[in-house]
Amino acid sequence: MLLSPSSSTQRSPTKMLDRVLSSRRYAPYADDSAVENDVVADESKTKKHLPFSFFTTRITNYLTRTGPVWPCLLVLALVLLLIFNSRRFVCVSPYDPVSRTGFFGFDGLESDIGSLGVPWCRSKHGKTVEWTTKDLIKGLEVFIPIYETRPIKNNMYGMGFDHSFGLWFIAQWLKPDLMIESGAFKGHSTWVLRQAMPDAPIITLTPKHPGKFLKKGPAYVDGNCTYFTGKDFLDFGNVNWGKVMKKHGITDLSRVLIFFDDHQNELKRITQALKAGFQHIIFEDNYDTGTGDHYSLRQICDQSYIRGGGHSCYKDSDEARIRSKRKKFWEKAVDIEELCGPGEAWWGVRGYMHDNFTKSSKKISYSEHFRNSRFVESILDVYWEVPPVAGPSLTHQTRYDPARAVTPIVEDGRYGLFNRLGLTRLDPSVFNGYTQMVYVQISNQ
Ligand SMILES: C[S@@+](CC[C@H](N)C(=O)[O-])C[C@H]1O[C@@H](n2cnc3c(N)ncnc32)[C@H](O)[C@@H]1O
Repeated sequence: MLLSPSSSTQRSPTKMLDRVLSSRRYAPYADDSAVENDVVADESKTKKHLPFSFFTTRITNYLTRTGPVWPCLLVLALVLLLIFNSRRFVCVSPYDPVSRTGFFGFDGLESDIGSLGVPWCRSKHGKTVEWTTKDLIKGLEVFIPIYETRPIKNNMYGMGFDHSFGLWFIAQWLKPDLMIESGAFKGHSTWVLRQAMPDAPIITLTPKHPGKFLKKGPAYVDGNCTYFTGKDFLDFGNVNWGKVMKKHGITDLSRVLIFFDDHQNELKRITQALKAGFQHIIFEDNYDTGTGDHYSLRQICDQSYIRGGGHSCYKDSDEARIRSKRKKFWEKAVDIEELCGPGEAWWGVRGYMHDNFTKSSKKISYSEHFRNSRFVESILDVYWEVPPVAGPSLTHQTRYDPARAVTPIVEDGRYGLFNRLGLTRLDPSVFNGYTQMVYVQISNQ
């Protein structure tokens, strides 16, 4: 049985802060057993064990009867395998998952995940979120049928499936009293927030009202949303939040969730949010070092003391070799030439801190970059990157490099679960927008 998103409101109305940080427990989804069975079914490749001698005797008897036909076929099969396994003999797209398997080896797809290291931001006290992979799988069961009813089917330049799910999951888990969204485009993310919280008010800041897109095609305008758009548009940093919160009857800012998808420098946004007293934030585009159009938390926390952080611009290094190989297979992977700017500046994007869709860019020194991470760490209570929904061999995504991503919710090789969840029903293009969406909790103490 699928539960509506509002069903999760049955959970006790603890403070959002408590809900995120309390010890691990599961959301009370009704159909626990269905998901459980999926997991078990996927893992239990049950075999009946017979004695080895039973098989050898059977084979010897068979070969005696048939003569040398089988050994010949075996040799032929081995030759064919050698031919098809060699990249010199085949001509296929490098983004093809089968070709990737051939290149990285048969276990490559699985061991691939996170192999270049996945930088992350350290939190003050090492706290993490309370939800587990099991909760995420249960969430997928609920969300996939909801996603199929989305009004904007082709959300090019907006969120795809992985981040839509991440946003929905976090919002329905936290149950904020109010949600603030900065950067709405045609309104897909507003729609996702609404699915998570059917009755909570939303405040949307975006230069162009989503309704304006309706003339050209699908868009979503919400009935319980205050829009700061058009001539009323205000940048998040220029809003008098005390006044706006008062107007909405919000007295406890720990009950507010902010969603940024406005391509602004995340150091700027996190500072503004902290100053206003907000605690729960989701950043949609948490770009990896060397990529993207704004300075992100992932970039800020890419430091040499973190695994996968800090980079060598030495062209003969292992990292350079691996990166150049991976670039052939993943559209968003960057090689060492792209990663490193003049003076071996690898931080941010080639030593630059981008802002506002790269409309503004500031060159920063390594020590400034380092200070930025220390500041972020000093205010962080929780840092959690939304995992990709499923491994690339299942989704057939070709863009983000899995070597820089956390373990997917549905791991490679678990086609049974992928299929049972209904993920096979979605067009593969919806899995191409993953950019490490991140949920953070911040405070001054
Ligand atoms: C990538 S789109 C948002 C996509 C949307 N969240 C979705 O999932 O479909 C970025 C949006 O940010 C808006 N934007 C640009 N500058 C902004 C600012 N300073 N504050 C808020 N939104 C801004 C753009 O007009 C655009 O609509």
